[in-house]
Amino acid sequence: MLVPSGGEDRPNSMPVNIFAKKDLRAVIAESQGETGGLKRALGAFNLITLGVGAIIGTGIFVLTGPVAATTAGPAIVLSFVIAAIACAFAGLCYAEFASLLPIAGSSYSYSYTTLGEVVAWIIGWALILEYGFGAATVAVGWSGYIASFLQDLGVHVPPAVAGAPGTQMVLYHGHWERATALAARLHLNVAALPHVQARFDLMALIGILLMTAVLFKGIQESANLNTAIVVLKVSVLLIFIGLGAEFLFAHWSAYTVNWHPFIPKNAGAFGEFGWSGVLRGAGQIFFAYIGFDAVSTAAQEAKNPQRDMPVGILGSLVVCTILYILVAVILTGLVPYTHLNVPDPVAVGIDVTGVRWGSFLVKIGAIGGLTSTMLVMLLGQTRVFFTMAHDGLLWSWAGKVHPRFRTPYIVTIVVGLCVALLAASLPISTLDELTSVGTLFAFTVVCAGIWVLRRQRPELERPFRTPWVPFVPIMGMVVSLAMMVSLHALTWKVFIAWLIAGLIVYALYGSRHSHVQQALEVTRQASAK
Ligand code: ALA
Repeated sequence: MLVPSGGEDRPNSMPVNIFAKKDLRAVIAESQGETGGLKRALGAFNLITLGVGAIIGTGIFVLTGPVAATTAGPAIVLSFVIAAIACAFAGLCYAEFASLLPIAGSSYSYSYTTLGEVVAWIIGWALILEYGFGAATVAVGWSGYIASFLQDLGVHVPPAVAGAPGTQMVLYHGHWERATALAARLHLNVAALPHVQARFDLMALIGILLMTAVLFKGIQESANLNTAIVVLKVSVLLIFIGLGAEFLFAHWSAYTVNWHPFIPKNAGAFGEFGWSGVLRGAGQIFFAYIGFDAVSTAAQEAKNPQRDMPVGILGSLVVCTILYILVAVILTGLVPYTHLNVPDPVAVGIDVTGVRWGSFLVKIGAIGGLTSTMLVMLLGQTRVFFTMAHDGLLWSWAGKVHPRFRTPYIVTIVVGLCVALLAASLPISTLDELTSVGTLFAFTVVCAGIWVLRRQRPELERPFRTPWVPFVPIMGMVVSLAMMVSLHALTWKVFIAWLIAGLIVYALYGSRHSHVQQALEVTRQASAK
């Protein structure tokens, strides 16, 4: 495994070329030789299951409910379609990059070779939103299903530690439940019930700390174990679709009213139902598709990355799109969308069918499935930091490897603690939108990168070519930007503040320790002699 050197501090007077690029030919050569000790073991099928394992998680098992209830109504189905289109355009661009540059680091590494260091830095910084905040979002979804599962077993999470600060918990028939979930489920006026404000989400904190411990010790996630978890998740969704469809066909006229109106009338503000709700819903539910880009980070473990990377990226996207659209159609048919603002909507949906083991099965599938998604996201975060430290853009401790476990242990602990605090203290809607905005930004830059590279380096041999360039990259950018624009103003403010903070860290540290800048300086001095 590669360990970054400390990196010398540069005198302030030295010029910094913020658009300095990594040499493309050298990176391609590197990717074809040294794998950093990793074994090339993954074939096309493994890559598809890897993608599906990373993709299916909180988005479908949790967010489908609140997004339908508060933003899009049954038209969440259209939101899923729009988000899938954006992912398809971006996925085609990722596929070209991943087959051309089969290296870990994904969009960060792609932009370092095409658009320059400062863009790569910004992408690396935005990927913290994707992976770090994404892991926190998944942990909150995991917490909802764990609490509901424990409740079925007669174990109750104390209300003060059952949700993000400010979450209202109410006592109903001897059980503490989230006020919004209870009100949505039973259409009750919950104001009169005894209530407590939660202070933090203990289960989400525990979930992240457990995964951090696994990553610290080193996870030899075999392809077979991943495949088993994927089979569980996909089977649960297929059973939901099968049971739900059978029930809906049997009770057609009583339940299809739930799909009317398909696009509820706009409630007066942008993003509250109507077509703007469909668009904002796409921006929020886009979270459900995040993860196909994680396939590209396994490029160095693929047997034949040039051929199989595009298959893995696009194949996992197609499988998940079909499953998601079917689940959304069935769920909004089974349950009126106004009743779906609950932490475990798929379980609530299957309850309607009257199949008693259905809800238990869904909870097991969701808990198992979300565990693997949480793990992959935390892994992605530590890997991006590790790669950036290797390039000298982050502190060298972020690239230190444990002598026995061979894992980047310091960065794993730091990331784990920060993400655990985020998961315990922020509501899922805030975490979800920040994850989406960071990822959509990365998609936009990857699409731009493909276009730029086609113009700058048309001669490169591309094992997979994105079709209809520049139409596909432009559409990828347009749809991604449209979904970003549809998100809440607060998300934008935090995102912009985040980017500014990132640029300050780059100016004060990254640009002064970058190995690419140091190499440029050596060349400059040599030519001056
Ligand atoms: N797509 C992943 C999920 O839905 C991140 O949890």
